[in-house]
Amino acid sequence: MAEAADTTTPTPTDRTEALAGELFAGANAALTLFSVYLGTRLGLYDALAAAGAQTPGELADRTGTDERYVREWLEHQTVSKILTVDDERAAAGERRYSLPEAHEPVLVDRDSLYYLAPLARAGAGLVGPLDDIVDAYRTGEGVPFADYGANLHEGQAAMNRPAFLHLLGEAWLPSISDVHERLSAESPARVADIGCGHGWSSIGVARAYPNVRVDGYDLDEASIEAAKKNAEAYGVADRVSFEVRDASDPALEGKYDLVTAFECVHDMADPVGALTTMRRLANGEGTVVVMDERVGDEFTADAGEIEQFLYGCSVFHCLPVGRVGEHSAATGTVMRTETLRGYAEEAGFGTFEVLPIENEFWRFYRMEA
Ligand SMILES: C[S@@+](CC[C@H](N)C(=O)[O-])C[C@H]1O[C@@H](n2cnc3c(N)ncnc32)[C@H](O)[C@@H]1O
Repeated sequence: MAEAADTTTPTPTDRTEALAGELFAGANAALTLFSVYLGTRLGLYDALAAAGAQTPGELADRTGTDERYVREWLEHQTVSKILTVDDERAAAGERRYSLPEAHEPVLVDRDSLYYLAPLARAGAGLVGPLDDIVDAYRTGEGVPFADYGANLHEGQAAMNRPAFLHLLGEAWLPSISDVHERLSAESPARVADIGCGHGWSSIGVARAYPNVRVDGYDLDEASIEAAKKNAEAYGVADRVSFEVRDASDPALEGKYDLVTAFECVHDMADPVGALTTMRRLANGEGTVVVMDERVGDEFTADAGEIEQFLYGCSVFHCLPVGRVGEHSAATGTVMRTETLRGYAEEAGFGTFEVLPIENEFWRFYRMEA
């Protein structure tokens, strides 16, 4: 008797079709992402948010762009469900396009925790030096952070900025009661912010705690220049300084109440060297807080979308930047808790704890001498 066909196990054909479908959907999503790049770089979303429904000609005039290109972009945005059109049957140049109010936090409001438009810029930056990345896969060399250029640096900084300006001082640090108390005290607490990038975390701490002084350190000159300008613009330059320094530099000195490292330890060629510096800067009494990606405890094929995204960042950027230098730890974006615990032990920390701060993307670690 013939066996009934197994309808639950996908046949090879189903799987082939599914993968083909996923790749097509991925290509569509990538093109939509890069259309968001155009929309933000050219000020198209800002103009739509400010002036409401517009024809291609009106939007082009308002943004100093070319009408025919803008028309194509508007039509693509509409079929991508980012914009809406008032009358799709109207002549192409007469249609009026709008940015739904609900999309403004994601695309226009730079302070919103939903502001994800910079992902487009960071995404373009991640693959900026693509030929060098291909070479690196053959040679095992690294690709310097600076070579990823302004798209990566500014996109990444803009992504983390809202959380640093709001959550860091309003929720994350206040939840560590003894640290919060010290930062709130009248006698000025000192904070060292290692791998500070464009300085938003340093500025966020300074704004939340009006007495503290923050010294931000980063290896990347362009980032430090940007950080100085940001501190000026936010009126905290008298209490926040920035300096180009390698976190692993044994000559980096100071005595700090709090030493932080936000989303950077996994990028460092020598994380143990950097953590050793941080332990030294905390000088036996201060606290070290590291924020890094909230990844699973171990590798699994069903790791979920966030870890899939983080592996994507790693194969193009974080692993290559972390392999610059002779004895790189080659960590990559997916730095698991046990990996960091191992680095902390090697750096001489006596205690290592995962802080009970809930966040979908970040995990916080506290270390002490
Ligand atoms: C992903 S960015 C994070 C920047 C910032 N903390 C943030 O969260 O927006 C990583 C930063 O680590 C810095 N970095 C990497 N290795 C470093 C080192 N050895 N010393 C100091 N900074 C380093 C890079 O220059 C870069 O600015």
